[in-house]
Amino acid sequence: MSLVKATIGAARDRPCTLVVCRGCCCGNPRKQPHVDHQWQLDQLRAAAAESAGRLAVRTTDCLGPCGQANVIVVQPATAGRAKGGRATWIGWANDDCMDDLLRWVAAGGPGLAQPSATLELQFIRPPGEARTRARGRGRGRARR
Ligand code: FES
Repeated sequence: MSLVKATIGAARDRPCTLVVCRGCCCGNPRKQPHVDHQWQLDQLRAAAAESAGRLAVRTTDCLGPCGQANVIVVQPATAGRAKGGRATWIGWANDDCMDDLLRWVAAGGPGLAQPSATLELQFIRPPGEARTRARGRGRGRARR
């Protein structure tokens, strides 16, 4: 019996999604006093409301890399994923990068549009990938 790969249900037309960390550090005014966290969420949610379903925003508890707070993960839309776009982690997502972020996701986000060079400077490795790379380096050192 052969396996048929198909996109089903909600995954067929998934919008570009911003997962905004609002855990112990991200969004915490005591740890990030220079950031207007509510203004950020209002900006992102307004963009989602105006996108006719092409952009979604949700918040989540701590994603892991608290040292790079505030963290936002940009998940590609189904069409972006089909063109090679992958979840992109953004660190130090403070007020001054909101315009670049909103321009990028309005143009389609990962796989569909190029982010600005300044926004790219804020891309960080997902925690799992960073751990895997660190383990690989550790083994390399042990062999020397
Ligand atoms: S609270 Fe955002 S990464 Fe920990």
